[in-house]
Amino acid sequence: MSMPLTFRPASDCPERARRIAAALIAGGLASMEEHDPGGLVLTCGPEGLTLTARGTDQPLSLYLDFVRGPQGYRLAHAGQAREDLIRALGRLPKGSTVIDASTGLGRDALVLAARGYRVIALERHPILAALLSDALQRAAGHPALEPALARLDFRQADAGEWLAENDTLFDAAVFDPMFPPRSKDAAVKKEMQVLQRLLGATPDPDAPATLAALRRHVRRRVVVKRPLHAPHVGDQTPAHELRGRSTRFDIYLPV
Ligand SMILES: C[S@@+](CC[C@H](N)C(=O)[O-])C[C@H]1O[C@@H](n2cnc3c(N)ncnc32)[C@H](O)[C@@H]1O
Repeated sequence: MSMPLTFRPASDCPERARRIAAALIAGGLASMEEHDPGGLVLTCGPEGLTLTARGTDQPLSLYLDFVRGPQGYRLAHAGQAREDLIRALGRLPKGSTVIDASTGLGRDALVLAARGYRVIALERHPILAALLSDALQRAAGHPALEPALARLDFRQADAGEWLAENDTLFDAAVFDPMFPPRSKDAAVKKEMQVLQRLLGATPDPDAPATLAALRRHVRRRVVVKRPLHAPHVGDQTPAHELRGRSTRFDIYLPV
């Protein structure tokens, strides 16, 4: 990231969110000063952290909420796209271990944990990791989410680097590297636009290497999520494909 984003806490910003932002400021990723008036801003109100992209007609905001809203708990239990992901994983038995190498907004990770899998969820971008940590802290203790969150181990890390240091073998992996917006759903589109502003034009150029590393760390399969007509990651041909309405699930076997 070229310039630190601006952090604007309101007086009622909770202490836990301030601590997360303080770590970003200490790392030079955020600043209390305004460096780029058209750039990204991290605000904090009573509900925690929100990332807003300015410089467009209408500011676009990203706020992660695992309890309510489009990402909330109910979504984790419903929806064809969620079912497709579970099918693509081969309907693993409960208690299976899954690594999500691209946690992003945390949706897939939550779906997998709600299904009874033990999930290690990695996200390498520090700002996104901050939003995820804030959302997870807010969700903690919510009775409906407690069992799923107990199975979800979130870490800020690059998947390739983490796998190089850990010789853990997972039952399966999910990988969903960035690609231009793929859903017609306006709410999703806006969130993806903020993500693209945050991550830049070619956000995951190392996706082929990450996929190769994941294939060495699974017993059963790696599922890569792609828009329906996107090329395969790194031109690596999958063993199978499962096609949903707007998403293709490319299934790779271990090597
Ligand atoms: C399209 S989003 C993933 C959305 C996610 N599947 C969800 O359900 O919300 C892609 C994310 O993967 C992250 N990412 C890509 N490659 C990664 C890697 N090697 N290690 C960790 N995070 C990675 C990016 O930073 C980005 O936030």
